[in-house]
Amino acid sequence: MLQPSTFNNNLLEWYHSNKRDLPWRQTEDPYKIWLSEVMLQQTQVITVIPYFEKFITKYPTLSDLADADEESLLKDWEGLGYYNRIRNFQSAVREVKENYGAEVPEDPDEFFKLKGVGPYIGGAVQSIAFNHLLAAVDGNVLRVMSRLNADARDTTKAGVQKSVKEEIESMMPLEAGDFNQALMELGATICTPRTPKCIVCPVQEHCEAFRDNTVHDYPVKKKKSKKKEEYYNVYFIVNDREEIYLYRQEGDLLKGMYELPKFDVDTSIENIESELGVELDQKKVYIGSDKHVFTHKVWYMESYLLHTTSSNEHFMPLDEVRNVPMSTAMKKVFRKLAADGAGGL
Ligand code: ADE
Ligand code: SF4
Repeated sequence: MLQPSTFNNNLLEWYHSNKRDLPWRQTEDPYKIWLSEVMLQQTQVITVIPYFEKFITKYPTLSDLADADEESLLKDWEGLGYYNRIRNFQSAVREVKENYGAEVPEDPDEFFKLKGVGPYIGGAVQSIAFNHLLAAVDGNVLRVMSRLNADARDTTKAGVQKSVKEEIESMMPLEAGDFNQALMELGATICTPRTPKCIVCPVQEHCEAFRDNTVHDYPVKKKKSKKKEEYYNVYFIVNDREEIYLYRQEGDLLKGMYELPKFDVDTSIENIESELGVELDQKKVYIGSDKHVFTHKVWYMESYLLHTTSSNEHFMPLDEVRNVPMSTAMKKVFRKLAADGAGGL
């Protein structure tokens, strides 16, 4: 077990003089802190910075984001991935606008009722914005804590994460927000996954793994099952009016995003025609192949250009495509077409 007082002092002192100057550390606005944590939950700091700046410029208050139309929000989020995050965030923010006078609830019990607010977001926002003594356990924090305690339990287990959260809360100083951010910062800059800089670590004297020379044994993560591989053909179906067939995703992790039609590799042209309600020329032009890795699956995509004389409500002028939200997987495919000079995109 860590000795809270000297450990806390060493860590906080280090944090105060070494913390990175990040844009969400220059605000006390709970809405902006919340937005930053939603972005940071599954995306790296370096990627988040420009998105955060864009969002606080375009949606400077909670009400602005509540009133935004969902498609523009998705377009602005494009490239950050895990699009449910922004949809849930907007639902939560709308709820705050309607039922809490557009003020982020300062009562953790109320805050935790909101959509998308789990232990991590709840702990991070309530500690950073309001100094409630709650932990915010992310991957960085799990790695740091497992090394400090030479804790060989499987950090992918919910029960282990809960117990780490409880341990942190039992030693939490009054500066809860800084303490949580200090643990994350240590994980991001010193106690890094592959080559931790133990030599300059402010809490080295408290670290059991360092003392035992077993730093590289932690954190323990049960081997992930292999990602599911899915193989698709993706079609650019273009008509004589320079329109392209696109559809909006329903009900899964890409809900609301525009996609090119994609089919299992063995789907015949006839089946595609009846599925999409279009007539297709039999000749398809190969464009290229792409791979896109998600958390639990991998898509392998071969893309083809197909001509049609049809048009229906799914067709969109090619020069409007850049204005609609599209997943990174599909944008990769589009870039390939543009590189071929085939689409003028
Ligand atoms: N990762 C998650 N939350 C963070 C924060 N507030 N600062 C830096 N990195 C983070
Ligand atoms: Fe991490 Fe090394 Fe510091 Fe231990 S001494 S907390 S392993 S950086």
